[in-house]
Amino acid sequence: MPAVSLIRRTGPVLLCLLLATFSSLAAAQAQKAPAYEPQSGQEGKDVVWVPTPQVLVDKMLDMAKVTPNDFVMDLGSGDGRTVITAAKRGARALGVEYNPDMVELSKRNAEKEGVAGKASFVKADLFETDFSKASVITMFLLPDINLKLRPKILDLKPGTRIVSNSFNMGDWVADERVTLTPDQGCTTSWCVSLLWIVPAKAAGTHKLPQGELTLKQEFQVLTGTLRAGGRTVPIAGGKVRGEEITFKAGGKDYRGRMNGKSLELR
Ligand SMILES: C[S@@+](CC[C@H](N)C(=O)[O-])C[C@H]1O[C@@H](n2cnc3c(N)ncnc32)[C@H](O)[C@@H]1O
Repeated sequence: MPAVSLIRRTGPVLLCLLLATFSSLAAAQAQKAPAYEPQSGQEGKDVVWVPTPQVLVDKMLDMAKVTPNDFVMDLGSGDGRTVITAAKRGARALGVEYNPDMVELSKRNAEKEGVAGKASFVKADLFETDFSKASVITMFLLPDINLKLRPKILDLKPGTRIVSNSFNMGDWVADERVTLTPDQGCTTSWCVSLLWIVPAKAAGTHKLPQGELTLKQEFQVLTGTLRAGGRTVPIAGGKVRGEEITFKAGGKDYRGRMNGKSLELR
């Protein structure tokens, strides 16, 4: 039988077959795997996933004074909410997350929220991540993990802001601590935001026009003496906040700035 008449005769059958194939493909498409839905408390590499309440995310970023000039990194970024919120404030933000499903979910969330250009996510172990370029670090980890990260954090550029949901940093007392109440919209157990500002390294003896200042440093707290005019007086209330130094000595208030290793007193 010539090919043309074969097509004419089998045409309707072919059409039916094609329609059947298309409709089963469409049905398969409709039944494709449901979107990944994380469960609060699910296992993570070193910490389970529990999301920070959005109201606390906002507070953490407020306390860190995030602006469009910042580069924010969230260590263990979960569903990406902190990174996305920082990106909505105009900052460049990067989430580091070990669970690849959470990374993909975060990328979809950032797309949906229209901030994919500012919010990025990498599948990585936070312990093997270089976060030295961050101006703000956010985290909701555990006290022992914070402690493990602490030496690296203390070596960051002075002035880098660190905000943690609920967990502390051992004997490095936070510069600020705020607890949100249910009235303020925080109804879970995770309503405390802690802020640290990486202090410049100010310990040592500084020969200054004002005298010889000898400083001991314990994180952001300074103690020591000022020797001037043949008198040595102890300093009181010594603080280092980023590069800014403040203390009292001999009844006078002093203010200064660490410029690398050298101190300039005003
Ligand atoms: C308590 S959740 C916090 C999530 C998010 N930062 C927030 O505040 O909503 C901790 C996250 O850290 C991730 N995580 C645990 N160990 C990690 C590691 N070694 N490296 C990177 N991410 C890790 C978990 O998968 C989880 O998503």
